[in-house]
Amino acid sequence: MSRLLKTTIATGLLLAFGAGVAYAQVKPEHLLKYRQGVMRAVAFQFGPLTGVAKGEAQWGPAMAQKAVNLAALSVIAGDVFSPASKDLANSDAKPEIWVKPDDFKMKMVAFQTEAAKLAEFAKADDLEKVMAQVNAVGKACGACHDDFRVKR
Ligand code: HEC
Repeated sequence: MSRLLKTTIATGLLLAFGAGVAYAQVKPEHLLKYRQGVMRAVAFQFGPLTGVAKGEAQWGPAMAQKAVNLAALSVIAGDVFSPASKDLANSDAKPEIWVKPDDFKMKMVAFQTEAAKLAEFAKADDLEKVMAQVNAVGKACGACHDDFRVKR
């Protein structure tokens, strides 16, 4: 495992465990906006990359930057499900997140790990690996949403 990957995961775990205290005083509606906003940002970086994987969008430095952004956002995503943010009104987060925190954390770390790998392949300008890795990241999104996000 590369050093970047290890640092990314360690930071993500730290945020996941440490966030409860830091956000206890923040208004619930702001916690919800933060969480959904981070997820939106994740999707806005990842969406164009799925276009690359399908051969519908062009690869280049701007796309590589999206992969780097996504890896950073995946670390932030580890920060948006603090215990202080359970039971938020109008959230699609299932209560299972806080009932099965180990399972949830595993899925979050899997996402962070795959996103960090994608960023590394992107920085190496390795399009073939990028295309395969986009699918791995997509599976990590789906694995978490399947269990922990309310379907609309
Ligand atoms: C470890 C779990 C997990 C992972 C990984 C994850 N998500 Fe999510 N996502 C959630 C949960 C839970 C919600 C619901 C949040 C809420 O409504 O409070 C959500 C919500 C969203 C939303 C809706 C945001 C809104 O405006 O309400 C989008 C879009 C989204 N995720 C995209 C993605 C994409 C794309 C990926 C992967 C690149 C991803 N997510 C990875 C758990 C995850």
